[in-house]
Amino acid sequence: MTMHRFWLGVVALATTLAASPAMPGRWDLDYFPNTRLLDQQGRELRFVDDVLDGRIAVVNFFYLDCPDICGLATARLAKVHEWLEDRMEDEIVFISISLTPERDAPEELAAYAEAFGAGEGWYFLTGAPDDVALLRYKLGERSKRLSDHRSDILIGNAGTGEWRRTSLMGNLAAATADILALDPDWAPPRAPARVIDGRTLQSFAAQNRVGEGLFNKACAACHSIGAGVRVGPDLEGVTLRRDRDWLMRYIRSPDRMLAQGDPIAVKLDQAFPAVRMPRFGLSENDVADLIVYLHSETLRLEALPDETEAAGDMDRGASTDHDHDHELAGHVH
Ligand code: HEC
Repeated sequence: MTMHRFWLGVVALATTLAASPAMPGRWDLDYFPNTRLLDQQGRELRFVDDVLDGRIAVVNFFYLDCPDICGLATARLAKVHEWLEDRMEDEIVFISISLTPERDAPEELAAYAEAFGAGEGWYFLTGAPDDVALLRYKLGERSKRLSDHRSDILIGNAGTGEWRRTSLMGNLAAATADILALDPDWAPPRAPARVIDGRTLQSFAAQNRVGEGLFNKACAACHSIGAGVRVGPDLEGVTLRRDRDWLMRYIRSPDRMLAQGDPIAVKLDQAFPAVRMPRFGLSENDVADLIVYLHSETLRLEALPDETEAAGDMDRGASTDHDHDHELAGHVH
């Protein structure tokens, strides 16, 4: 009897958890309140109709007076934004929602957005405190105190209803790949990011070495991976900002892509007017090796263990510091 009740309890708990809106999975549009919000330009927008608008969304919470992790998170989002630039606004939106809407006015949000160079398709939102509080609750941000707010982000596809969480404090390239993977049509670079069996690991390493050798011979004079623009663009993150097929075609014959008026090739040519990316007559295999190398370098560079530790320290620091013990509800300054 007792046992029976115990199992009933487990089932009830499991059901609650499965239905709990704090744990994303499938969230259809009618799950979200169509909250009236203001963006950094003072435009009035509805959360579902105007902000999500059927797109892939990256949602985080912040507040202007945040003493610790918000600025770092925003700076890291700005980097992801740079990699996703081609898809921003049309396909992907970033949504940064204020945790202190009673204090954070659109003009101040605009200054904050500008300080981080926030580009297209990135909304910094405030609104009536009660409305924002409900939205925040539905999106799983339920901390009682400002200092406890989650540092992971919510990502989802408002078209397919698939939602999940990812972290901005670990490997940013992996977080970017998580966002892109919400697009059912996105094909990840064919480099195994995490290899499971030894044989794959070996062949991957070999392929990587071939790619590295080729890169050093043919590309490194004009391109860095992570050290900034040289004669041509920095190739860190290029496997995230471009489709694999596009990269394949472009590296093999950039001149033809330009002649055919491919919009990205044209834009690149305008951004780098002095020199043209040469055509090397590389085979498809060579270019595949190069793409594997470019992708694994992006993943490697973004592991950033130091920053992860720093973020952890800040979390700990904040929770023992009484200055940050603002109650979220009814916080007035
Ligand atoms: C002589 C300099 C030079 C060399 C060598 C060179 N590139 Fe480039 N690359 C450029 C320039 C300049 C651009 C920008 C487009 C333009 O102006 O033609 C570019 C653009 C690119 C892009 C597009 C970047 C983006 O943001 O989408 C990729 C990818 C690329 N190069 C890969 C390579 C690879 C791989 C090699 C080696 C096989 C290589 N490049 C060798 C100069 C070079």
